[in-house]
Amino acid sequence: MLRSHDDQVKELLGRMTAEEKLGQLQQLTWTGDTGPGGGQTAEIEAAARAGRLGSVLNLNGAKWTNDLQRLAVEESRLGIPILFGLDVVHGFWTTFPIPLAQAAAFDPAVAAADAEVSAAEARSQGVHWTFSPMMDVTHEPRWGRIAESSGEDPYLSAVVAVAKVRGYQGPADGSGLASKDRIASCAKHFVAYGGAEGGRDYNTVDVSEQRLRNHYLPPFKAAIDAGAATVMAAFNTVAGVPAHANAHTMTTILKQEWDFDGFVVSDYTGVAELVAHGFAEDGAEAAALALTHGLDMEMVSTHLADHGAELLAAGRIGMDRLEDAVARVLRLKFALGLFTNPYTDESAEITGPTAATRAAARAAAARSMVLLKNDDAVLPLAPSATSIAVVGPFADCADQHGTWAGPGRLRFETVSVLDAVREAAPGADVRHSGADPAMAAAAARAADVTVVVVGEHSGLSGEAAARSDIDLPDGQHRLIEAVAATGKPFVVVLVNGRPLTIGGWLHAAPAVLEAWHAGIEAGHAIADVLFGAVNPGGKLPVSFPRSVGQIPLYYNHESTGRPYDPVERYVSKYLDLPGGPQFTFGYGLSYTTFATGEPQLSREEIAVDALARGESVELTVTVSNTGERIGDEVVQLYVHDVAASVTQPVRRLRGFERVTLGPGEERAVRFRLGAEDLGFWTNDPSGTYVVERGRIDLYVGTDSSASARCELRLT
Ligand code: BGC
Repeated sequence: MLRSHDDQVKELLGRMTAEEKLGQLQQLTWTGDTGPGGGQTAEIEAAARAGRLGSVLNLNGAKWTNDLQRLAVEESRLGIPILFGLDVVHGFWTTFPIPLAQAAAFDPAVAAADAEVSAAEARSQGVHWTFSPMMDVTHEPRWGRIAESSGEDPYLSAVVAVAKVRGYQGPADGSGLASKDRIASCAKHFVAYGGAEGGRDYNTVDVSEQRLRNHYLPPFKAAIDAGAATVMAAFNTVAGVPAHANAHTMTTILKQEWDFDGFVVSDYTGVAELVAHGFAEDGAEAAALALTHGLDMEMVSTHLADHGAELLAAGRIGMDRLEDAVARVLRLKFALGLFTNPYTDESAEITGPTAATRAAARAAAARSMVLLKNDDAVLPLAPSATSIAVVGPFADCADQHGTWAGPGRLRFETVSVLDAVREAAPGADVRHSGADPAMAAAAARAADVTVVVVGEHSGLSGEAAARSDIDLPDGQHRLIEAVAATGKPFVVVLVNGRPLTIGGWLHAAPAVLEAWHAGIEAGHAIADVLFGAVNPGGKLPVSFPRSVGQIPLYYNHESTGRPYDPVERYVSKYLDLPGGPQFTFGYGLSYTTFATGEPQLSREEIAVDALARGESVELTVTVSNTGERIGDEVVQLYVHDVAASVTQPVRRLRGFERVTLGPGEERAVRFRLGAEDLGFWTNDPSGTYVVERGRIDLYVGTDSSASARCELRLT
């Protein structure tokens, strides 16, 4: 617990002026990615000397951070060190696949590997704190920030968030934070940002209490339990109240119900934006509302520092709340060891990826890929193929870093698919053509097999990158159609940051591999999967809709009184589309085949009182590899409370396990279900979780449409 530093914090607080206290709540941004100049640099240096600067974002490099740190530590009155923060979202030097891809691995070890490599690289460069993990559950493929998320499921998002927090920070008690290879994490964006209406970034989110608690909050609770040191407020409103001044979410839930002892940082100018939201009349009011409702640190805008003294004098903010916020910031600085060790060893900087970190990124990327289609076993490609065409706008692309890549994107190219195919098939004649459909078709005609690499540039996903149309951009489908018209075998590799609508050309493509923005080793990882060195085992962490008109479309929806039926008219459906998505949550193929048996329960009924006492039920299912190759399957468990006082999703994921099985091998997979899996939060604003008597249907299988079912009765 960060509270173990409370005595030191109290002693220091006792010596601080009101100005110095307010200063600890200010974070300013250095401009650009590295290096001095412009932006808020002049204010930063003056504030550091004056002891009025809590944190700086967007500065890295041991020397540059040390130079600035020296101003604070050696020239300010109390010598309180600066906390350096940076968005290290999926890699610092070594870019791992984007977070959405990492979730597709259905394997927390992938997220953990990224976080550990990132933490070591970042800390060596003077960075103490990352604004990651992002855990915004979302139903919105139009929203560009889906690329930074773990997709549409709260359970999967929570598992990934916990792995990331542990990877960045080490143990939940904060005891690892002072190590030279750990950094503090930031659970963001608090909360419900993924609900942005229409997928337009920063947009309104109107959310019921039960949806907030069942859907958006669980990953945050899990991250806090794993020790996440900080939380970032979200740009959106939550049921009419901006998240930056939302007492219900920041104070009542986060700090009181969950006993969070870290601090809440605003998002970039999020405090100032309370005025544009129509919630505060001016900057002073914005600062007062944010602080009193639970925000602790202001990023970039300076209303608290500018107006804090007058707000204190007027009684519009209280000294207790101010000191509580400052104590939260100081606790983390103590936990990071900054008071004893404020500087970074300039001789021990990690200056780029190593063979080991590249290998980790390559393995993570290959594990994240999802095989969407593979008719006639076009894949894997035979390494003995004599001629291969690699075509499309992303065939020779050296920027597969994806959105929110770290400083590595400026210094290191990603491995292209073209280069990797040449390496993987040294005996083959490998030809390349770009985006032109006619030239691609000519190349395909001359080749045994063609790899068509299409998708989105990194800039089409991430922040402020909403799209109203989520087809392949720039008419890239014409390239697929031209290659298909040759009648020669081909595979489509998708490199993208969100679900795409691919129904228009899917029938024409024999095989489709979802490779996402796969990071620094993208090409190698794609070639590993194309040639079968890695058998793909990823699963979709989000539904792929048939059409943009269906959005929002997600597997864990509630039922209606008139559920979808293909024949009936007066049911919940579109007249011009079949029901459901193109590809459902949890879906993904392999080069081998698997069978799952009937699920067995350790007991068919259990009393809710017993669940409340911590008893649980075990479900066992066997999974076997029925094909010819070693491969991975993700066994998934879904629950459905068939009649509840708050209508429940038709299915919700409550367990998964990725297993590797050789040909003919069989394994029993066990899941434990307790109160936390079988109940739900009600609409009570003060937080009521109930487990109700009645029937629970359990579904087990290899995607969210699994049909193997058993029943559990809660008595
Ligand atoms: C984003 C945050 C990010 C922050 C700092 C904001 O625009 O919403 O996710 O951490 O900038 O770069």
